[in-house]
Amino acid sequence: MAAITIRDMCVSYNKGKSYVLDNLNLDIRDGEFCVFLGPSGCGKSTAMHCIAGLLHPVSGEIRFGEEVMTAAKGKGKDKTFVPPQERNIAMVFQEYALYPNMTVRENMSFALKTKKVAKEEIEKRVNYMAQMLSIEQLMDRRPAELSGGQRQRVALGRALVRDPQVFLLDEPLGNLDAKLRDQVRYELKKIQEQLGITTIYVTHDQTEAMTMADHIVLMKDGHIMQEGTPEEMYDHPANEFVAGFLGTPQINIFSCEVKKNTLDAGTFQLGIPEQYQAALTPYAGKMIHLGIRPSDFELAKEGFNAIKGQVESIEPLGDAYLIYVRVGEKIVVFKYAGEHAPKEKELLLVPNMEKLHLFDAETEKRINR
Ligand SMILES: Nc1ncnc2c1ncn2[C@@H]1O[C@H](COP(=O)(O)OP(=O)(O)O)[C@@H](O)[C@H]1O
Ligand SMILES: [Mg+2]
Repeated sequence: MAAITIRDMCVSYNKGKSYVLDNLNLDIRDGEFCVFLGPSGCGKSTAMHCIAGLLHPVSGEIRFGEEVMTAAKGKGKDKTFVPPQERNIAMVFQEYALYPNMTVRENMSFALKTKKVAKEEIEKRVNYMAQMLSIEQLMDRRPAELSGGQRQRVALGRALVRDPQVFLLDEPLGNLDAKLRDQVRYELKKIQEQLGITTIYVTHDQTEAMTMADHIVLMKDGHIMQEGTPEEMYDHPANEFVAGFLGTPQINIFSCEVKKNTLDAGTFQLGIPEQYQAALTPYAGKMIHLGIRPSDFELAKEGFNAIKGQVESIEPLGDAYLIYVRVGEKIVVFKYAGEHAPKEKELLLVPNMEKLHLFDAETEKRINR
C-alpha cells in the first residue's frame, strides 16, 4: 500500500504547444478511495495514465510512498521512470477484456501463474477474492456464460488478486445498467475498505463520486477546481462550478443585488442574516450570485423572506417530489419531501437561511464561509 504524491505535473500531447494538465499537485493518502471527477475531456484519464506509467509527463514528479516513480526534471540523470509493470498497480477499465477461452478461475489465476506464485498461494488468494466478490459459484464458467455485472466482478477480482499497492479504475461501471451499477458500486467500496488499497477511481458521474469517495478531486480543463471529502464539497463548494457539478438536481443560482439589509433578486427579497453580513459588506450595491439547493427550501403560508412562484410541473420521485416553480423568467427546482404533492398553483418557498451559497458574480468564487 502506498500514498501517492504528485508535484507540479504538466502533461502535453503535442510536445508542449498546449497542456492537458497544467501544474497538477495532489496528495492521496495511503489506503484512501480517491475519485477523479469532472466533465468529459477534463484530464482525468490522462492523470491516471501518468500514475500508471502509461504516459510520460513533460515535467513534475510522481511518488508512491517515498519511492519516485516518475521524475521529469529535464534531461540527463535526474530523470526517473519506473515502467508500469514494476509499479505494482492493478487497473480496470470500462472496456475490460477477460480471456474468453479461460474459466473465471483461470482468468483470476493467470497473472499470478505468470509471476510464478506457488500453486497453493494462488488458490488461497483466488478463493479469498471470489468470496469477497460473491462469485464462488461462477468459478468454472467462461466469460460468455456470465452477465455484464458478473463479468465486471471477475475483472475486479482478477486485478485485485495480484495484491497491488495501487488500484486504478477508469469509469469501470459505465457499461452496466443502473441497478447493477449501484450494487457493484456498493461491493467495490466495501472491498476497498476491507483491503485498504490506495484506490483512484475516474468518473464523470457525481453520484458515484459522492457515494464512494473519501476524497474527491473535481477537475475542469486540466485544473483542480476543488478537492475534499464529499460532505465538505457539497456543503461548502469553493465556486459555482463545484456547486453546480455536485448535487442532483442542480443547485438554483440567482443574481441578486446586495442592498443595505436585503439581497434583492428583483422577483424576491431576502433579509441578510447576521452571519453573512461581514462577507457581503464589500459587495454593497453590487450584484452577487446566490445559490440555493433544491432540498433547502420549505413551503410557507406567509410571504416574509419567501420566493413566490407558479407551479409549472411536478415529478414524483417516490419518497419526494421535484416541483418546478416559475419565478419571473426563472424555473426554480424545489425538492419537496412531503407525503402529498401540494395542490396550490402558487407556492411560497422559504430558503433555509443557514444554507445559502454566495458567489462573486465575476470570479464565481465563494464569498461566505
Ligand atoms: N492520446 C491523445 N492525444 C491527443 N490528445 C488527447 C489524447 N488523449 C486525450 N487527449 C485530450 O486530452 C484532454 C483530456 O483527455 P482525457 O484525460 O481523456 O479526459 P477525461 O478522461 O477527463 O475525459 C482532452 O482534450 C482529450 O481530447
Ligand atoms: Mg477518460
